[in-house]
Amino acid sequence: MHVIETAHLAMPKLGLGTWALKGADCARAVAEAIGLGYRHIDTAEMYDNEEPVGQGIRDGGVPREQVFVTTKVWWTNLGDPGAALAASLKRLRLDYVDLFLVHWPNPQIPLAPTLAAMTRLKERGFARAIGVANFPATLLEEAVATGAPVACNQVEYHVMLSQEPVLRVARTHDIAVTAYSPLGKGGLVDDPALAGIGRRHGASGAQVALAWLLEQDRVAAIPKSGRGENMRANLAALDLRLTTEDRAAIAALPKDRRFVNPSWSPAWDQAA
Ligand SMILES: NC(=O)c1ccc[n+]([C@@H]2O[C@H](COP(=O)([O-])OP(=O)(O)OC[C@H]3O[C@@H](n4cnc5c(N)ncnc54)[C@H](OP(=O)(O)O)[C@@H]3O)[C@@H](O)[C@H]2O)c1
Repeated sequence: MHVIETAHLAMPKLGLGTWALKGADCARAVAEAIGLGYRHIDTAEMYDNEEPVGQGIRDGGVPREQVFVTTKVWWTNLGDPGAALAASLKRLRLDYVDLFLVHWPNPQIPLAPTLAAMTRLKERGFARAIGVANFPATLLEEAVATGAPVACNQVEYHVMLSQEPVLRVARTHDIAVTAYSPLGKGGLVDDPALAGIGRRHGASGAQVALAWLLEQDRVAAIPKSGRGENMRANLAALDLRLTTEDRAAIAALPKDRRFVNPSWSPAWDQAA
């Protein structure tokens, strides 16, 4: 498995997203993904699926330490990340997570104490690494400026959404970027331009979209799938090599399509 290595973490480039997977379906999907070779699973307290995610990890049959597990503290709970992580670990039935993220920024709760509390959780071994999600470039700079060991920013990122400002800050500070909704919540998989590129490689448009992310330095992607066939195809995207011509065609796609934009979103960076 291809792994991103930074000063603060070693994270497999391709992970399984689990949002909206629930109950037995979720446990089965996670176990199946591990059986196929996935070693990175993304969940969150808000997904209401940490119990089946934990079950799927145990059913996957590989030692715990070989699976990179991310969970997140919901933005209304940032006042007490320790309580949130303790509850997550209990549901997951794990002693630690590999990455613990602020799920969304919350302007009502000061960032520095939240990150300081998360740093203590890391020091006590409950999270191997800590980070943020949905932080635009300026907020990411603020997070780094607190002195916390910010290892990752998880943001929506795909062939139709530029994240150049975030990537610039991340590169400067050796921070990994995890691309969520890398298939635009499924909305990109039938795009004719991507399908056309895929045909040249005997691949699907979804695989092209993932290969474009996965070839980028310190960028991971966490496509969600509940289906073995798609999980397998997404894993195979790690081996798809795009050409200069492919990259030029992808560069010409619109870069301002955002699929996740809830009312509590921060002011996003303008598409570059
Ligand atoms: N931090 C955050 O705020 C945040 C926000 C959103 C998402 N996330 C994380 O990112 C993960 C992924 O994002 P997402 O779930 O929003 O969307 P996504 O991964 O972009 O798209 C998932 C959709 O694509 C389909 N799909 C997957 N692989 C496919 C393939 N090879 N060919 C065709 N269709 C395919 C899936 O259907 P099937 O299941 O039928 O395969 C599903 O409908 C989430 O599950 C979650 O873990 C984090």
